[in-house]
Order: sequence, then C-alpha cells, then structure tokens
Amino acid sequence: MSASPTPIVILASGRGSNYEAIARAIAEGQLAARVLAVVSDKPDALVLQKAQAAGHATVVASPESTLAELRKLDPKHEAFLVMAGYMRLVSDELIEAYRSSRGYARITNIHPSLLPAFPGVSSYAKAFRHGALITGVTVHLVEPEMDSGPICAQEAFGIVDCATEADVEARGLAVEHQLYPATLQWVLAEEFNIERRGDRLCVRPR
Ligand code: GRF
Repeated sequence: MSASPTPIVILASGRGSNYEAIARAIAEGQLAARVLAVVSDKPDALVLQKAQAAGHATVVASPESTLAELRKLDPKHEAFLVMAGYMRLVSDELIEAYRSSRGYARITNIHPSLLPAFPGVSSYAKAFRHGALITGVTVHLVEPEMDSGPICAQEAFGIVDCATEADVEARGLAVEHQLYPATLQWVLAEEFNIERRGDRLCVRPR
C-alpha cells in the first residue's frame, strides 16, 4: 500500500467494536490511516479502555468542547473525523471547520440501516420490529441534519431468519466491521467524484 496515512480522530461513545475494526485494518496494512486520538463524550466508555490498551491517545470531551479539543489535536484541521458509534450530534461549527474546498465535510459516520430508512437510534431493532425482510449498513459523510449526508457505501443483508433483535445486530456488526474500513480506504484518500443530484451531493469512488 503506497498511500501516505491520513490522520484520523475517531469519535465514539460506547463499546468500540468499529474502532477495533478500523485499528485492525490499519495494523494489517489494509487502511492507510494514523489514529491521532479517540475522543469520547462518555468518560466510562469501553472504547476508551480499548484505545488506551492499544496505545492510542484518548480524550473525553462534551459535544460543546469537542471542537476546542480538536484544535489542540489537529490545529490545521488536516485530519478526517471518523464517527464510530458516536451518539451525539456534532455542532454545525465543527462540521464547517472540517468542510473541504470540494464542498463536503471531512467527517464520516456509520449508521446501522439502509438510510434513509430507520434514522436515529436502535435502527437494527427498528428494522426487526418493523418486519423488514432486509436491512443494512450505511457509511456516509456528515452534514448537520442527523444521518443525512452524502452516502459513500451501503450493504444490505437479509433478516427474515433472525429470531431476535440481537440476531439482527450481530449480523449487522459483522457487516459494519468489513464495510467501514473498506470504505474509509477510498474516502480518506478522497479518491471520489462528487456529483449533484437535485439538492444532494453524491459521492462515488473513482
Ligand atoms: C454500531 O452499530 C454503529 O453502526 C452505530 O453504533 C454502533 C456502535 O457500535 N452507529 P461500536 O461501539 O462500534 O461497537
């Protein structure tokens, strides 16, 4: 892999399985990135313990103080922000601070549904309770409105044979852990074209 590693700051609130998948992909040479820090709004988040064990810097910051912390970690805003189970909305000011000259914000998120279906929280459970036959995972760039930014990648999977919400989540997480690092590979390198469709920006790998 020849691309120089893109600095990333991972924002996460919880268990951190996506953080682990990303860190693994970096360690295995599958993803050209360098973790500057893991930032969490929750001081007791498991992801912080995992990051410390892996030797990554950790920061606890409220949504209001996150931009100030990022200015210390990444003064020139050269990093990509990678949201991985971050359960807070980021401020409009933070999104603008990371907006590139090509129009999109250099912030990614992973959402556990095929957006625009089931935005918000507990999306695997919502799909299960809705009786959906398939659901999926979306990786997208972040815009101020929740779960609304340009879609980078989606992967669907069947849930007809799932007996519980937990079954759907287990299947979904396995998809997430492959899809997020694979998508970050081209998103972080900004190897994508942008086209406008109606009032939306669409992102496609080159
Ligand atoms: C994942 O399902 C992710 O899609 C959603 O929150 C969950 C985070 O899981 N945004 P983890 O903390 O990465 O294990």
